[in-house]
Amino acid sequence: MYWTKKHVLVCTASHCAQKGAMTLAGRLRLEIIRRGLDAEILVNNCGTIDLCDIGPNIVVYPDNVIYSGVTLKDLPDIVAHLEGGPVVERLVLNATTPAERARHDFYAAAVASEPTRPAPEFVELAAAHGYDEAWIAEQQRRGFIARKPGAEGGPETITVTKKARDRYRV
Ligand code: FES
Repeated sequence: MYWTKKHVLVCTASHCAQKGAMTLAGRLRLEIIRRGLDAEILVNNCGTIDLCDIGPNIVVYPDNVIYSGVTLKDLPDIVAHLEGGPVVERLVLNATTPAERARHDFYAAAVASEPTRPAPEFVELAAAHGYDEAWIAEQQRRGFIARKPGAEGGPETITVTKKARDRYRV
């Protein structure tokens, strides 16, 4: 029933699902039912919200809150928020969250001249912003960058994808 006070969307698209989002969604829904809140709070699965590297992600309306990196341990605090308690600040993500701001600054630098550059240059730039190879691999896995073999024996290249450019507006 949609005429609820809050609508909670749990991203269960592939990247978040790989990190346990289906279980999260199921447990959250159960907890809402167990507390008799299901007439007021609707929990739905949803497709990607393009924050795939920091999922699982949950969006709460009308609060307009995004929780990222949610684990089962976080559910009691999220349920408390849904029941009228405070927003769970440690999980909140928005464009001005320091970690998101730092990723923005890196991607802004990475596309400053053009979205594709030799991989060693990209890795060096990432390191200068405090990001290591594991972080780069995660960005690639989640579709924010794409690697290609270099043309004619040249170095491999890394392209910042539209997914990253749209997210960071760069
Ligand atoms: S898969 Fe959940 S944000 Fe992309």
